[in-house]
Amino acid sequence: MASLTGKTAVVTGGGQGIGRACAEALAAAGARVAVLDLSLDAATASIARLANPSTHLALACNVADSQAVNASFKAIDDAFGRVDILVNNAGTGTGPNDGTAEMYERMAQRNAQLARGETPTVHVEQAVFMEDEGWRSVLAVNLDGAFYCARAALRLMARDGIAGSIINMASSAVQTGEGPLHYVTSKAALIGMTRALAREVASRGIRVNAVAPGPTDTPLMRSIPDEWITSLAKAVPLGRLARPEEIAASVLYLASADSSFITGSVLVNNGGACFF
Ligand SMILES: NC(=O)c1ccc[n+]([C@@H]2O[C@H](COP(=O)([O-])OP(=O)(O)OC[C@H]3O[C@@H](n4cnc5c(N)ncnc54)[C@H](O)[C@@H]3O)[C@@H](O)[C@H]2O)c1
Repeated sequence: MASLTGKTAVVTGGGQGIGRACAEALAAAGARVAVLDLSLDAATASIARLANPSTHLALACNVADSQAVNASFKAIDDAFGRVDILVNNAGTGTGPNDGTAEMYERMAQRNAQLARGETPTVHVEQAVFMEDEGWRSVLAVNLDGAFYCARAALRLMARDGIAGSIINMASSAVQTGEGPLHYVTSKAALIGMTRALAREVASRGIRVNAVAPGPTDTPLMRSIPDEWITSLAKAVPLGRLARPEEIAASVLYLASADSSFITGSVLVNNGGACFF
């Protein structure tokens, strides 16, 4: 694997789960890493796990807030003087008044009907219960946040003539449609943004790619009902959830010169759960 010594990397949502694993993989390859997270404590805990923590940076940042994103990239620029790699990993599958509770309740009722051998009459649906606020909150983090961070990183890369790499964390749910409505929509849009941005910045040598994980064993995954996790894992031909480090390995590849001719791609990492 090509070394990332001398490079700086920004990982959003790096306080736990896949983001934390990305921070660890990028740092182990030699990069100085800035971890952004809603929780400063979580970001700091991720940095504390790295070798030479004082060479890295933990910042509290809500990526859905463009001013907070710009302030974070200013702090990163002040500390590191450059940005070579951005991992747009921060993401959420739920928000206030988004119909999640109603959907889970109906899922349980429908499963109970099926278990009793009845023809199910309960419909599992989210859209009818979703308020504007719920819809917007997930799009604001997963899509707007990724754009705000990409824009801030690109401004620095363009200023310094850096042929950097941006990696957007999409999801295999884009292909299957299986997942919360706003979440799947946001991840599909993120793939569109990946492709458009890849074309736009290719003349600078900057690459933009996406990783599409399948079900991965993280705190986010553990927040959904057990029966849904079980059914997701059963649908994976390799027979299990991914480990966060396995997703981070794809990110590391796309961040490094090993993938120097790959841009606008979606690297699917899902144990064969579905094929793009
Ligand atoms: N776990 C999976 O099965 C899976 C599958 C496909 C894609 N993904 C994607 O991978 C990414 C990471 O998922 P995970 O499972 O590690 O999630 P997670 O919930 O375990 O961790 C996400 C981290 O992002 C942070 N975060 C959330 N909103 C933020 C915001 N507005 N600003 C800054 N930080 C924020 C959280 O504080 C948390 O530390 C997400 O984009 C998710 O959609 C996950």
